Amino acid sequence: VLATTETFTALFFPAVVLGAACPYGAFTPEQPTDTRGVCPMLNALANHNFLPHNGRNINENQTVNALQDALNLDRDFGKFLFTAGRLSNPKPNATTFDLNHLDRHDLFEHDGSLSRQDAFFGQWSRFNQTVWNWTKQYYTSDILDVQIVANGRAQRHTRSNLTNPDYSLSEVGYQFSVAENSALLSILGDKFTQTCPVKFVDYLFSKEKLPYEVGWKKPDTPISLADLIKTFGDIEKATAFPPRPADDNSTAIFN
Ligand code: HEM
Ligand code: MG
Repeated sequence: VLATTETFTALFFPAVVLGAACPYGAFTPEQPTDTRGVCPMLNALANHNFLPHNGRNINENQTVNALQDALNLDRDFGKFLFTAGRLSNPKPNATTFDLNHLDRHDLFEHDGSLSRQDAFFGQWSRFNQTVWNWTKQYYTSDILDVQIVANGRAQRHTRSNLTNPDYSLSEVGYQFSVAENSALLSILGDKFTQTCPVKFVDYLFSKEKLPYEVGWKKPDTPISLADLIKTFGDIEKATAFPPRPADDNSTAIFN
C-alpha cells in the first residue's frame, strides 16, 4: 500500500502542484512570456486564470465563460464583446485573439484613455501611473457616478486634444471611450445605482487584479449589453456642459 501511494505521489504530485498553482479564478502574477494589452479587465482575467494566462489564442467560449464566471456578464453580452476581440486579430476570419491584438491604434484602441498615454507619446497599451493620477484629479468623490466619469472622460480628451498634435477620435473610438467608462459603473460598480468606488478602479488598473481585497464582489444579478447601453446614454447626457435645461423648447430663439 505504501509503495503504491509513493508511486502515485511521485507520478502525480508535480501535476497537482502545477495545477494548484493556477486554478481557474486564482490570481497568479503576469510572467515575462505572457501577453497583455490595453484592456485592464481582460489583463486581470488572464492574471486570474479565467482566461489563458499567456493571453493568447483566446476563443469565444473562453471569453464568454470568463466574463460570466468572473463578472456575471450574460452570455449574449460576452459574445458581443468577443466580436471586438476577434476583429482585432490581424488574421482575417480569425476565431481567436491575443490580448495584445487589442492594442492596434485607432481600431478599437483610442486616444484619451483614462490610464494609458496616447500612442503619439510612446508606449500606449499598458498602465501609466502619471496619466491615471491626472485623470483622478477630476474624481471629486470616493464614489464614481455618471457625472464624475463624464467629467473625467471629457477632461482626458480635452487634454489629449490640447497636447497631442496627432489627437484623433473615430466614431468607434468614441463609442469605446464612453463604453469603457460605462463599464466601470455598470460592470465593476453597481448597474442599479450606476456608481463605483474609485478604490475598485484604482486597484484594477494598477494591479490588474480583481479588487476582492478592497471589498469588491461579483455582482449577484447578470449584466447585459442593455445595462451597459443605459449607462452609456446617461454618460452622454451628463457630458453636455453646462447641462441643457429641461426639454422645453418653447422659449428657444434659435430653433
Ligand atoms: C479598455 C477591449 C472587456 C473595461 C479597453 C480597450 C479595448 C478593450 C480595445 C482599449 C481602449 C483604450 O483605452 O484605448 C475589450 C474587449 C473586451 C473587454 C475586446 C471583452 C472581450 C472589458 C470588460 C470591462 C472592461 C468586461 C469591465 C470593466 C475596460 C476599461 C478600459 C478598457 C475601463 C479603459 C482603460 C483606460 O481608459 O485606461 N478594452 N474590453 N473591458 N476596458 Fe476593455
Ligand atoms: Mg487608448
